Amino acid sequence: MKILFPSFLLFISLINQAYSTDQAYNAIFSFGNSYADTGNFIFLVRGVFPYDVFEHLPYGMTYFNQPTGRGCDGRLVLDFVAQDLGLPLVPPYFPPIQNFSKGANFAVIGATALTLEYLSQHNITNVPPVDTSINVQLGWFEQLKTSLCDTNTTQSCQDYFSKSLFVLGEFGGNDYNFVLSAGKSISEAISFVPAVVDTIRQAAESLLKQGALNIIIPGNLPTGCIPILLTNYASTKKSDYDNLGCLKEYNTIGFYHNIKLKETVGQLRGAYPQARIIYADYYEPMIQLLQNPSKYGFTVTEPLQICCGGGGPYNYNSSATCGQPGVPACSNPSTYINWDGIHLTEAAYRIIATGWMKGPHAHPPILPGYN
Ligand SMILES: *[C@@H]1O[C@H](CO)[C@@H](O)[C@H](O)[C@H]1NC(C)=O
Ligand SMILES: *[C@@H]1O[C@H](CO)[C@@H](O)[C@H](O)[C@H]1NC(C)=O
Ligand SMILES: *[C@@H]1O[C@H](CO)[C@@H](O)[C@H](O)[C@H]1NC(C)=O
Ligand SMILES: *[C@@H]1O[C@H](CO)[C@@H](O)[C@H](O)[C@H]1NC(C)=O
Repeated sequence: MKILFPSFLLFISLINQAYSTDQAYNAIFSFGNSYADTGNFIFLVRGVFPYDVFEHLPYGMTYFNQPTGRGCDGRLVLDFVAQDLGLPLVPPYFPPIQNFSKGANFAVIGATALTLEYLSQHNITNVPPVDTSINVQLGWFEQLKTSLCDTNTTQSCQDYFSKSLFVLGEFGGNDYNFVLSAGKSISEAISFVPAVVDTIRQAAESLLKQGALNIIIPGNLPTGCIPILLTNYASTKKSDYDNLGCLKEYNTIGFYHNIKLKETVGQLRGAYPQARIIYADYYEPMIQLLQNPSKYGFTVTEPLQICCGGGGPYNYNSSATCGQPGVPACSNPSTYINWDGIHLTEAAYRIIATGWMKGPHAHPPILPGYN
């Protein structure tokens, strides 16, 4: 034991070295929605929206000290993953004038998996002004490729992307929210799961065919624990809530989506055995934070209360949302799990990121050597 102990320490320090200084990956390419957007939405809607909350403090008050277009007080899970891997924070693709050799982020606030055309064919029309769905984001990636590798010789791009880390999601949360807010039922929302998951599968296959060997595919959050849904679909029946105060039936949407997504990840692993396809979980860590908030430093009395909002039972008020003039944030966001009613605080994202890097909330964990 006395001999093993120092070599165990050495082993750990070698891992840290490999993944913080020597850079295991050349780049990170990210696709997704507001859980991953680092600035695309604010660029794309400039001049379209008269006032965009994400361009205003208190968004960004922690870490950046200014709004960056992230739907958070600070860093997202993606930011922590990049920093833990010794890579720069993944730059938004827009405006597409930078050097993206170390990665690019195509995620956009409000992005869906399904195209807006598909949703409108199903009478879901209360959607964002521009289509930023998975296929659109893959199209941007295609445009970027010519500046990263020689697209005339397939091998050049395959080599480049084989050393890159791809993050595909979360996707689906917005699709289901738009279905629900079009007045449709929970079971109608669930009926969209196969199409959503199939779209994610096709996107993953497209990346795998282009040479990706490392893909993280995050699942959905517990839909019924999101304060905006808790506010919009509040019930007078106590039995509609679970012991954490979440809406039980609404949780089934995220839960069912994740079951189908995990099945799909299993099929992809079978079809692409050379690739490392990681299922990353938002659902379980979110439940754990709500079950035992103080264990993780969330000393807020009511864990579903949001930090930044304009009043109401969860402090989420659709007429006074975070980023609007005069809507205050709590003084210490790190004591809250939820930031603005939809998105989590940097403190919560940090804990989720650690569970993805080292386990137990990614299968397998992002860092090799953890199980
Ligand atoms: C982009 O940056 C990398 C180093 O990060 C450098 O090797 C490369 O030449 C740059 N590309 C352009 C087009 O400036
Ligand atoms: C959409 O709405 C129209 C008009 O109410 C209806 O006729 C049609 O069946 C609906 N389509 C779907 C897919 O729900
Ligand atoms: C790829 O092929 C096109 C068309 O033949 C050519 O114009 C372009 O210069 C080539 N690009 C590279 C990087 O060789
Ligand atoms: C929500 O915000 C509006 C507009 O500021 C305000 O009039 C209303 O009282 C707020 N609701 C609650 C429950 O605080």
